[in-house]
Amino acid sequence: MNNPVIAIDGPSASGKGTVASRVAAVLGWAYLDSGALYRLTALYAEQQGVAWGDEAQVAALAQALPVRFADGEIYLHNAAVGAAIRAEHIGMGASQVAALPQVRAALLQRQRDFAAHSPLVADGRDMASVVFPDAVLKIFLTASAQVRAQRRALQLNLPLEGAAFEQILHDIEARDAADRNRAVAPLQQAADAVLLDTSDLNIEQAVKKVIDCYRQIEN
Ligand code: DC
Repeated sequence: MNNPVIAIDGPSASGKGTVASRVAAVLGWAYLDSGALYRLTALYAEQQGVAWGDEAQVAALAQALPVRFADGEIYLHNAAVGAAIRAEHIGMGASQVAALPQVRAALLQRQRDFAAHSPLVADGRDMASVVFPDAVLKIFLTASAQVRAQRRALQLNLPLEGAAFEQILHDIEARDAADRNRAVAPLQQAADAVLLDTSDLNIEQAVKKVIDCYRQIEN
């Protein structure tokens, strides 16, 4: 029997990673940050001198990604890269390699394997539509671009107005457009997904909403 999966999709900086990992902790389930796999692929390509647009070569690297998740850290070969994959330019690289069908295909089974031994909470862009279409609960978690830019600025200790803030807002809108408009597995709300707009919710309230949704279908 397949393990149950909760799929949480949404745009960048929506807070879905924090919400998904806390939901997993509350339920005692495993957690998959699928965006990390695209970020790792971009970083690995950069390290190997492979251009992000070189589909066949990047897909080969994605297939063979020497990644290990352990104790809350991510290792590529044996180097800790949890911080390196969060760099803004690696995020842009991730967005580029994620638009390549062969790269998505190369990472598909690796993502499904996370549910092989444990129930799973998975977050990303296509968890509900492609990777786990049979998920027991599908959530589309979003917030306005303005609110997401404010959250990102707070994380970076930047003011909530001025040129740096406008740049963050611009980057978020550009990434949204790239993720929504690509030909393969674009970011979109699945027909059977519950919409959760967190513009006016804090993390605890968002986590509670997801858990409440799950308890309802579980009963
Ligand atoms: O969630 P994130 O910002 O770490 O994701 C990085 C990039 O990877 C993002 O621009 C879109 C892409 N991505 C994707 O295409 N499919 C996923 N399931 C997860 C992320």
